[in-house]
Amino acid sequence: MRVNGEVADGTPRPGQCLRTFLREAGWLGVKKGCDAGDCGACTVHVDGIPVHSCVYPALRAAARDAEITTIEGLARAHPRGRAVQDAFVAAQAFQCGFCTPGMIMTAACLPAADLGERADVPRAMKGSICRCTGYGAIRDALDGIARVDPAAAEGLPGGVDVIGAGLPAPASQDIVTGRAEFTADAANPWSPPETEGLAQPGSREALQMRLLRSPHPHAWIRSIDASLARQYPGVVAVFTYEDSPSGLFSTARHHDPGDDARDTAVLDRVVRFHGQRVAAVVADTSRAAEAACALIVVDYEVRPAVTGPRQALAPGAPRLHARAPGNVAAKVHRATGDVARGLAEADVVFEGTFLSQRVQHVALETHTSIGWLAGARLTIRTGTQVPFLTRDALCALFGLEKDQVRVLARRVGGGFGGKQEMLTEDIVALAVLRTGRPVQLELTREEEFTATTTRHPMAVTVRVGARRDGTLTALQMTTLADTGAYGNHAGGVLFHSCEESVTAYRCPNKRVDAVSAYTTTVPAGAFRGYGMSQAGFAVESAIDELARRLGIDPADFRRRNLIQPGEMPDNASGEAADVETVSHGALRALDLVTDALASGRGDLAPDGAQWRVGSGIAVTMLDTIPPGGHDGRARIKERPGGGYQLFVGTAEFGNGTTTVHRQLAAAALGCSPGQVEVRSSDTDSSGHDSGAYGSTGTVVAGTATLRAARALAELIAARGLSEDDQAGKPLEAEGYCDGRARSATSCVQGFRVAVSVETGEIRILQSVQAVDAGTVINPVQLRGQVEGGVAQALGAALFEEVRVSGGGLVTTRALREYHVPVLADLPRTEVLFAAGSDPLGPLGAKPMSEAPFNPVAPALANAVRDATGVRVYSLPMRRDSLFDALAKLALPEEAAPDGATWPQSLRQGRSAGGARRARGASRRRRRHPGLERVHVAVRGPGRRQPGGRQLARAADRLAEEPGVRAGQGARPGRPGGVRAAAGVVLRDVAGADHPGAGQRGGIRLVADRGDRALLRPLR
Ligand code: FES
Ligand code: FES
Repeated sequence: MRVNGEVADGTPRPGQCLRTFLREAGWLGVKKGCDAGDCGACTVHVDGIPVHSCVYPALRAAARDAEITTIEGLARAHPRGRAVQDAFVAAQAFQCGFCTPGMIMTAACLPAADLGERADVPRAMKGSICRCTGYGAIRDALDGIARVDPAAAEGLPGGVDVIGAGLPAPASQDIVTGRAEFTADAANPWSPPETEGLAQPGSREALQMRLLRSPHPHAWIRSIDASLARQYPGVVAVFTYEDSPSGLFSTARHHDPGDDARDTAVLDRVVRFHGQRVAAVVADTSRAAEAACALIVVDYEVRPAVTGPRQALAPGAPRLHARAPGNVAAKVHRATGDVARGLAEADVVFEGTFLSQRVQHVALETHTSIGWLAGARLTIRTGTQVPFLTRDALCALFGLEKDQVRVLARRVGGGFGGKQEMLTEDIVALAVLRTGRPVQLELTREEEFTATTTRHPMAVTVRVGARRDGTLTALQMTTLADTGAYGNHAGGVLFHSCEESVTAYRCPNKRVDAVSAYTTTVPAGAFRGYGMSQAGFAVESAIDELARRLGIDPADFRRRNLIQPGEMPDNASGEAADVETVSHGALRALDLVTDALASGRGDLAPDGAQWRVGSGIAVTMLDTIPPGGHDGRARIKERPGGGYQLFVGTAEFGNGTTTVHRQLAAAALGCSPGQVEVRSSDTDSSGHDSGAYGSTGTVVAGTATLRAARALAELIAARGLSEDDQAGKPLEAEGYCDGRARSATSCVQGFRVAVSVETGEIRILQSVQAVDAGTVINPVQLRGQVEGGVAQALGAALFEEVRVSGGGLVTTRALREYHVPVLADLPRTEVLFAAGSDPLGPLGAKPMSEAPFNPVAPALANAVRDATGVRVYSLPMRRDSLFDALAKLALPEEAAPDGATWPQSLRQGRSAGGARRARGASRRRRRHPGLERVHVAVRGPGRRQPGGRQLARAADRLAEEPGVRAGQGARPGRPGGVRAAAGVVLRDVAGADHPGAGQRGGIRLVADRGDRALLRPLR
């Protein structure tokens, strides 16, 4: 075969996929996002046809003597290749850039007609996943719409004019041509002292590591026999708990290491979740390492699993960590005023419990680390958001001094909080220190799902009360969170979930009680929003419901109760908050969104009587910096030959900080942004930096950059005034920000939706988010961040869920089982900036990495409520669950907003015996004369199951009745299938025959059992 016009070196191995063959040959623009043909990151052209090379046998390409084109050769090989790459640059259709080569390879093969008419683009792009952009900029690239002038960075004169300019990312050309180097792309990364530019095909020599993982959710390891594995050809070493350093650590990385429980070992003798590391094998190849893993014999003493937080907190539950009595990983209890009094003063009270699920970051680049010894120095190149904190943790773990360890990241393929953890670096460091040889560990996509971290699932109960005039009198939140097997971020996430969601509203009586429990499930961790999306879903849904019950417009209710600029936030602790709100822009953003929703923009509702249209909003607040400080340091120096080199400790993982830092430095130095070269994420290049988390890349690291650049500008202005400067040596300056002055920022999301009451389908007709970002330094970057945040949150709101079986096993182990949104799944989101300037941020800027995620789910739930009357209590709002809720609500008025519907009424009637049941049923019929006319959904056994045939016949007759719709959502005859739609969902036909509440079409509705109404066919 030929690759990019050259005869391919080497012969593929049997079973080798084309992607691996190409990467081993040095074509590193071919990325690995999965191993299953799900993500599109590995797309190449085989004889001009785009294929996912991870599922294409390399031998097949060789046998047909195929012409292979990768991103590196696209511009030469394809007539539209260069044009598509240019379009991606002009639209800035990337953030981290990991998906971009595959996207471009697919887009280049779209027929030109599709690009013009766009009719087929969503289908054509459905095999390509982007986790960062939300596809808005990618759509623009495909439509030929430019967001930036690619040459603008060079042409701008400098000074403050660069602030507010939509400049392209400096790495744009490298990203679209496949030259951008992610961790696994470093062909020879251990060559000291620098790693850039060392892509030398065929020179890879790192040992490969694979991990043996626990098959039990909870067990004690009696013994491990690795003798066979050690004898396997190519195996260099096997590590078990006997080799682990004795110290415990937290995989979570924070400015203050004391924020997280030290409960994790590099290799532990106790396994606490299905998928925990048990042993590590390093070998010449990953195939050998994998084969050797299978030869390790482990003798487990299986212990009881604890797979839910209520079970974990129950008396007598097995204790999972010696230092955590009662399995409590973290707790927050606060109160101000008197909630009982506040509720008593309220004219209307609402209480509801809102459930949010486990979701995964799905950064397209999986966790990867490569370690080596540079002399005696341990060097780890890794995809991390926190290089300095990782270095510090490795020093503590292995007893090394800081100057004995270097940690660096170059380009990071998405993080979203998932790389604010030390999940691969520790075990790689152990192997490097023991073997003295370079070692690489690249997690698979399955390991990402089963053995990294997720968002904390939470059950949040909110009680809110208000007077008729719309004044909030009580706000109470009770949270139960599941931190999984380890307490990484348990405290931080719990704290934040209870903080801004409560401080956003003025209320004299507040109370928070929150607990995070250890369970024997995959650990939770940091994730964009950091607990506030879960709490925001609950609080913003409750506030909305309260407003509706009061008969007040939900936006007006918020206007009345949100804190005003300058008002001191009250977090229910009784202590003064350390957050400045003079620039608080929630109300401005709220006005922008309500105006946008009223404007008539967006799509028209689909035709058909089944569609109900409504709109909803949600407001969430975020403090701009984590409490307790956050180091940011920058160093800037004159570059020989002109321009400047800026070294910052924070990491670029698609969050746009590199572009923003360049603009801040150019503003201070009065130069063109193109004259500032930014290098980030290397513990050898700048002073200590706490890293890229907590939305600090702009406000903390950016402030450090601005201060360093201003200091250098002063030195330059003073050049020649002192004798020391005469030598003309390059000047250099440093800047520091301690991240202690915090302010608040807000995002307001609005949706207009159409909901099918027949199927539960939600169509988003309009999506708009307004952000209180202070001074907008780069509107293109900011818009991309917001679009990406909204898209990721829509995935979590609508369909994403990491499912865990009753035995603690993660059952969503591949992208196709998890459903990350693709282009076809998402609407465009209009992004609006609420004008403002923050006195604390650099040149008035506020952060916007995490915040756009938080209001999305509640805004969508509120829009669904507005359209249909159904209040959504649990995420994701999948079509089937919404259908069930709609079916219950089809009954008149009886549908209480706490979720109780007709079946509950029947329960009440039944509870005191048959006579009362009959009276109750008759009374209900009188109360609800429409009862006999409502539709019912018939669910029950399939045609071939006992009772199924009669039920099917009866259901068919029912479906023929006037006003009853034919079944939707399941095939007739299938067990549990729906044969007639809407109304009360009746899940069971078993049980005793009770006095009926009504009958139609041969179906008699009977009393219920538990929470399920029963139904029997008339015989
Ligand atoms: S790596 Fe091939 S489709 Fe994901
Ligand atoms: S830019 Fe698409 S995955 Fe990051």
